[in-house]
Amino acid sequence: MKNKTSYICKICHAPAPRWQGQCSKCQAWNSLEAVVSTPLRSSTMTITQPVDLRTIETGVQDRTSTRMGSLDSVLGGGFVPGGVVLLGGEPGIGKSTLLLQVAGTMRETGQQVIYVSGEESLSQIRSRADRLDMLDDQLLAMTTNAVEDILACMDQHPALVIVDSIQTMVSSQAEGLPGSVAQVRAVATTLVERAKQSGVTVVLVGHVTKDGQIAGPKLLEHMVDTVLYLEGDKELQVRILRVVKNRFGPANELVLFEMRGQGMSIIEDPSTFFLQARDTALSGTALVMCMESQRPFVVEVQALVTKTFLAFPRRTALGFDANRLHLLIAVMEKRLHVNFGQMDVYAKIGGGLRMKDPGMDLGIVAALLSSLYDRPLPEGAVFWGEVDLNGQIRPVFGHDVRRKQAQNLGYSPLVHPKTSEAKTSGWGRLLDVQHMLFGAPSAKYSG
Ligand code: TYD
Ligand code: MG
Repeated sequence: MKNKTSYICKICHAPAPRWQGQCSKCQAWNSLEAVVSTPLRSSTMTITQPVDLRTIETGVQDRTSTRMGSLDSVLGGGFVPGGVVLLGGEPGIGKSTLLLQVAGTMRETGQQVIYVSGEESLSQIRSRADRLDMLDDQLLAMTTNAVEDILACMDQHPALVIVDSIQTMVSSQAEGLPGSVAQVRAVATTLVERAKQSGVTVVLVGHVTKDGQIAGPKLLEHMVDTVLYLEGDKELQVRILRVVKNRFGPANELVLFEMRGQGMSIIEDPSTFFLQARDTALSGTALVMCMESQRPFVVEVQALVTKTFLAFPRRTALGFDANRLHLLIAVMEKRLHVNFGQMDVYAKIGGGLRMKDPGMDLGIVAALLSSLYDRPLPEGAVFWGEVDLNGQIRPVFGHDVRRKQAQNLGYSPLVHPKTSEAKTSGWGRLLDVQHMLFGAPSAKYSG
């Protein structure tokens, strides 16, 4: 059977049966690249039949521990043999550093790990391993751009092969430059296939483009078993490793790391990590018990409300969606009778974190009020709860875990929503929280 060549537009990914100068969908010029597809199945091969699932082994495979406590647990107990993990993140965020550390710690238990780099020279990798104090006599590294070399490595049956990065590898099965859609797809397909056959775990590094997609679109996410993203503010030390997808363990988990001079170290107790050096006597800051994964931790929300000198006042949100800030300001103007019309509003999450937890709402509102009135919130107060458009405070997921954690850490008062189980404690209306914190609104601020 012959291989068939078809074409795909590298901009809009529309397929085309033959090469042409202009993509017929997005009208871009010179954007088509060839994809060679091998025939699916030849007629002489045996047909696959469905089987009774009970006859299949349970596949609770022996996990390979990464020897990094929390990392193991977010992976669901370590790497799965034959599993393929994608680690995405912006250039320079620490992907290579983290993986070299994993390679080093796994070496300590005598497991064979091969670090394949298409980006750095062997001497660069060596000096990084030196710096991380990971230079073990058996830590194997290789520099190549050919996927065939990686396949040859996998034939040695190591426990783990790290491919840094998928965008630098080429397969002779496909055309195009490294990093093109066709190449990324071909390289990933080959490696996933071989991982499943050989039982070798493969970690693929994928650079993320500015708009947050792994270059060679989201296509990679479907092909692999586990997708991890490393994110954070490069100016700050904190890095967040998020589990976006996991066929073998919990999703929506995260691990927090601190980037140090000697590599990344896991923040084992994030509950108070983000609160260092906080002045409780200042207005405009609130503590939030937030949950971005199964573990709650406290972060500081800062707000600054100042008189504007602009025709259109500024609204800036750092670390969370600006639309949430607009929405909360609108709710506060309508339900709390405060007026931000002549005010610039800035709000940010401390520690360079980027949060999506809807439970942040109540804390953001408290910080905004505190800055507007220029009065600090009660020392030790901690907030969580979602604010809806009617000015009601809604329960959020993980309520009990948040409350337990807040009590353990000695916070008081706890300002949180009423829940269906405990109707007597908690707050239902934003207006009541405002009164509790600042008394009845004074004439000066009422709208
Ligand atoms: P790197 O792992 O090369 O990023 P990526 O592979 O995601 O592109 O990270 C490089 C950055 O990390 C660089 O700015 C230096 C910093 N770094 C440390 O702060 N401490 C360290 O121990 C190492 C090895 C790097
Ligand atoms: Mg790198």
